[in-house]
Amino acid sequence: MAYSDKVIDHYTNPKNVGTLDKSKTNVGTGLVGAPECGDVMRLQIEVDQESGLISDAKFKTFGCGSAIASSSLATEWLKGKTVDQALAIDNMDIVEELNLPPVKIHCSVLAEDAIKAAINDYRVKNGLAELETVAAA
Ligand code: FES
Ligand code: FES
Repeated sequence: MAYSDKVIDHYTNPKNVGTLDKSKTNVGTGLVGAPECGDVMRLQIEVDQESGLISDAKFKTFGCGSAIASSSLATEWLKGKTVDQALAIDNMDIVEELNLPPVKIHCSVLAEDAIKAAINDYRVKNGLAELETVAAA
């Protein structure tokens, strides 16, 4: 299978790998798994509560190159967005940007699910409305 240059770039030089302090109330953590292959992704956001903007995002992905690339790209896109803007990130945007082939679409779904799970965790922690669409990870 031919990977696009962008996938290879994010895979060999992933952005924002790491961990944010889970105990902070302004940090949301999403942990999701792909039923298709068993790969696991953890994605975290930190929200600046004065501006309402996502000030930091980190991930750790135990999975394939496309999942790593999808989560790396997602963390780049998340920074500077509001939580509502972050919710609008669609896995097909990731597919398009990375040129993922059909068998790798679920890798981008994992990234979208991880974003939504992280936002959900942030909202629950802060007494904001819980998302209805996120299944328990
Ligand atoms: Fe092998 Fe995802 S299927 S790492
Ligand atoms: Fe399963 Fe990529 S996340 S193959």
